[in-house]
Amino acid sequence: MYETIVLDRMENIALLKINRPKALNAINQKVVEEMNAALDEIGRDPSIKVLVITGEGDKAFVAGADIAYMATLNPIQARAFSRAGQELLFKIESLPIPVIASVNGYALGGGTELAMACDFIYAAETARFGQPEINLGIIPGFGGTQRLSRLVGKAMAKELCLTGVQITAQEAKEIGLVNKVFPKEKLMDETLKTAKILASKGKVALRAIKRCIDRGFDVDLRDGCYLEAESFATAFSSPDAKEGLSAFLEKRQPKFEGELQ
Ligand code: COA
Repeated sequence: MYETIVLDRMENIALLKINRPKALNAINQKVVEEMNAALDEIGRDPSIKVLVITGEGDKAFVAGADIAYMATLNPIQARAFSRAGQELLFKIESLPIPVIASVNGYALGGGTELAMACDFIYAAETARFGQPEINLGIIPGFGGTQRLSRLVGKAMAKELCLTGVQITAQEAKEIGLVNKVFPKEKLMDETLKTAKILASKGKVALRAIKRCIDRGFDVDLRDGCYLEAESFATAFSSPDAKEGLSAFLEKRQPKFEGELQ
């Protein structure tokens, strides 16, 4: 049992909620610790095909790192907190399964950083994004200066981090940070609809696509395509390839039930 998060399961979809609604789900050391443990649990369970991350309540996804906690830190402790947060987000990013951020409200500072470590973001119309650390006299510490520029370009990342302004879900969509925006009451249903589509696909193919896009992004095109060809071959090692190709030729819906070898 966790205190600051909730980990639920709907068939082969895991749902992880940050659960400190009174502090707008701000991330403190305990949240980092418990999310690490939950991600290890998810990583160990090959039956889970998709992870959805969201925040408890209807006001916040995550309103940032916990400011009350940060106010107690000296520079050495601040570095350790930053590294722990960064490692947590690397752990999310390197989960082999797809991860959707379902941003149900404020996603500021660590909230935007957490969402960016997921594979893509769906947001409620009421969600707000931003890197407001500069307003506290500090800077983003959970990868914000790095992932934001990679996602939306250097100039936009600089404007957001240097001004500390909040942007709306629609603005976040326009700059390519968010994939889709929904009315607040429809967000979770729409997120789960996509999660179910992902969960209906083959495990080997889901993982191979995520791996190819992530690992291929930072290498040159030729090396990326080499990785793709190797992963293409791996996909052919799964019974799902036989099932998917024959289902098409037999004009029926495929059933992807292949396990990881
Ligand atoms: N860390 C710790 N506590 C936080 C928090 C954070 N990042 N964000 C909000 N809270 C707490 C508030 O202190 C308040 O606690 P209280 O009820 O004990 O006073 C509670 O959550 C509700 O927040 P409040 O500010 O009263 O709500 P609001 O609707 O007026 O404003 C925000 C919402 C998100 C705009 C505002 O809370 C805010 O600016 N939060 C900080 C965002 C930030 O700078 N994040 C980056 C941190 S590096």
